Amino acid sequence: MEILLKPLTDTLGAEIKGLNLQYPIDDGTLHKLKSAFTNHSVLLFRDQHLTPEQQISFSQQFGPLEIHVSKKYLLQGHPEILVLSNEKNSDGSRVSIADGGTGWHSDLSYMERPAMASLLYAVKTPDTPGIAQDTAWSSGYRAYETLPVELKKRVESLKGIHLFDQDQNPRMPPIDTKYRDKHTPALRALTPPKEHPMVRTHPETGRKALYISIRFTIGIAGLPEDEENELLDALFAHQADQGNDYVHQWRTGDLVLWDNRCTNHRALGQISEPPNIRRMHRTTLSGDVPY
Ligand code: SIN
Repeated sequence: MEILLKPLTDTLGAEIKGLNLQYPIDDGTLHKLKSAFTNHSVLLFRDQHLTPEQQISFSQQFGPLEIHVSKKYLLQGHPEILVLSNEKNSDGSRVSIADGGTGWHSDLSYMERPAMASLLYAVKTPDTPGIAQDTAWSSGYRAYETLPVELKKRVESLKGIHLFDQDQNPRMPPIDTKYRDKHTPALRALTPPKEHPMVRTHPETGRKALYISIRFTIGIAGLPEDEENELLDALFAHQADQGNDYVHQWRTGDLVLWDNRCTNHRALGQISEPPNIRRMHRTTLSGDVPY
C-alpha cells in the first residue's frame, strides 16, 4: 500500500495519508507505519470511520492491548476501549470521564509496565469550531536533551515515584468530581506507587527521554524531601518552559497514535457541555518495564 507521510513539526508528529484503517494493514505497510511511529513518536490519521472492533483490530497490529485499571470507564462489550466523553446519561450522570487529564502525563506511568502507546479516536467532536478541546504533546527526548548539564547529571541515575491518585499529588488540584470520580480504596490498592528511571532509554531508538510528569510523578526515590521537591520543581519548570511540541485540533474521524515512552501529553482548554459532544475512544498498547 502506498502511504504518504507529512511531518507535523520538526520535533515530533507526522500525518499519514492514504490509509483506510477499517481494513487489515499488509506487512510491508505495517513495517513502514512502525518505523514512522518510531521516528516521529506521534502519528495522525484523518477521516477514518472506525467501529470499536475496527479500532481494536488496528491497534492490535502494533501489539497486545491493555485493559485500563479504571474499569468504570470502559466501553460496554469492548473493555479494550477507554471512553473519554462529556456526554450525560438520561438521569444527568456522566457517561465517563470527560478527558484524559489536563496535567502533562504519559499513560499508565504509575504501573509496573507503563503503556507503550495509546490510540485516541475522535468518535464525535463539536461542530462549532474552536471548542473541540485540543490535545498537546511534548517530546521527552527534547526535554532531556535541553536540560542544563548540571540537572542532566543529577537525574541520570535517579528513579521517579509515580502514583495514579491525583488527590495524593500536591502539585495537582484535587479531583473535580464534576468530571471524574475520586479513587476508591480498591482502586488505590490496585495502583500503589511505582518507581521508574527518570531518564528512560527508548528500546528501539536507543535515545534517552526525560520520563517524569507533573500529573503522575510525586517524588524521587531515596532523596530527602526538600531536595526531592527542589529537583522536581526545577524539572517540571523545564518541561513547562518547553511547552507544547504539537497541538492537535480534533475533527471527527481523527485517530492519533502516540509513543508514551518518549512523549507526554495533556488535554487543553475547557470541557465543553452537551450539546457540544466530545467523545473519544482510547485503546492502549501494553509496554515493558522502563530502563
Ligand atoms: C489522554 O490523556 O489519553 C487523552 C487526552 C485528551 O482527552 O485530550
